[in-house]
Amino acid sequence: MDVCVIGTGYVGLVTGACMAEVGHRVICVDDDHGKIRTLQSGGIPIYEPGLDAMVERQRRGGRLTFTTEISEGIAGATIAFICVGTPPKEDGDADLVAVEKVTRRIAECAASYTLIVQKSTVPVHTGTWIERTLEVYGRTAAGTFDVASNPEFLREGSAVEDFLHPERLVFGVQNSRSEQLLRELYAPIIERVFTCPVHERCPEREPVPVVITDVPSAELIKHASNSFLALKISFINAVADLCERVGADVEQVAHGMGLDRRIGPAFLRAGLGFGGYCFPKDLQAFIAMARRHGMDFALLREVERINQARIDRAVAKLQDRLWNLRDKVVGVLGLAFKPHTDDVRFAPALALIERLEREGVTVRAYDPHANEKAREALPGFTCCPDPYAVAEGAEALVLCTEWPEFAELDWARLRGAMVRPLLIDGRNALDPQKLAAAGFEYVGMGR
Ligand code: UGA
Repeated sequence: MDVCVIGTGYVGLVTGACMAEVGHRVICVDDDHGKIRTLQSGGIPIYEPGLDAMVERQRRGGRLTFTTEISEGIAGATIAFICVGTPPKEDGDADLVAVEKVTRRIAECAASYTLIVQKSTVPVHTGTWIERTLEVYGRTAAGTFDVASNPEFLREGSAVEDFLHPERLVFGVQNSRSEQLLRELYAPIIERVFTCPVHERCPEREPVPVVITDVPSAELIKHASNSFLALKISFINAVADLCERVGADVEQVAHGMGLDRRIGPAFLRAGLGFGGYCFPKDLQAFIAMARRHGMDFALLREVERINQARIDRAVAKLQDRLWNLRDKVVGVLGLAFKPHTDDVRFAPALALIERLEREGVTVRAYDPHANEKAREALPGFTCCPDPYAVAEGAEALVLCTEWPEFAELDWARLRGAMVRPLLIDGRNALDPQKLAAAGFEYVGMGR
């Protein structure tokens, strides 16, 4: 099938590469000329395990091409995915200007039938706006359209595997033609006919469940899922605070809760809270959308408040031990919003660094993959080449991202470089006993 993917961010690039991998001909479009040049010349603008090799393989094989022109991408495509950014506006609502621009351009350029599939995370009824826009601006063009919503549930860091082996697929459609086209497009994924090139295993043999809904329901499924996961995280973080007050261990509490299949163990890891380009902005957009429809989603406002207070908790832990923070050196381990990505957007580590700098702290930090992006986002702090340089002269270390390599550090060496061996484990990722044996004062989150 001929597929056009508009927007080459995380979702768009993974969608394009994986659709090519399962046998379709894909053109990826982006108006960022620099990005397209990078992709055309075999580079890749983001760090995502397995994606670089897949993009390169499909590009060389000729099944994946890149352009800056929507007209070029849309010509001959049966399905066009809209994967452009939906950044937050000041009031928290999603900014849909890019979605509208792209839709208008598709309307003007399409020369035959095209199924327009919305993959960006958008507020409910965006599909209706897309449809109206296609109708208004497509009147003089030869194209006819259907509109569908196919929300993406991939996680950064395991995006390729999540795309090729999803837990479910959601097709929000208006008619059976759209459903059939999406079923055909996704057939190799639904039937699990190949092994995942990243992990070389096919976890389940059962076909992937496909949920067929109307368009607004599909749009809501995405926002409701992300908000619910964020709620789980804030819930366990509130429990972590309670654990500290009553002398319990949140890790044990979460384990005991998670064994109940109705609750499940996932997203019950207490710590510095959630960041990234999805949860914080999707939560805000969901709250704003509910408000627009006359509903105060107070539960989700509290989820957000608890999450924002995680940085205060970490700063309070430092203050409790170091007394004054001004003129002290604090080391930060991990800058990405989570491991296995170089993404620092809304990363708790950057929020913490900003806060510490306001308190007059000198911050030294290191991340295995995100140093460069963090430096671009927040120029003030000292970026170090390795964790041992972070520890030089530090009064405390704060672990903000649970990269597996941090568990294997030479703690005696780190301690030797520090002025005071205090470690705040913002992700409960380290072994307290091991740290104590290496002479550290270990402070976790709720344990
Ligand atoms: C999230 C969802 O998990 C995906 O299903 C969704 O497709 C994606 O957003 C999206 O909307 O595009 P992602 O933002 O990549 O994926 O990352 P997650 O693995 O969900 O983690 C989000 C944040 O929550 C991270 O900062 C992580 O450290 C934090 N987290 C996660 C916790 O603090 N505790 C947990 O138990 C789990």
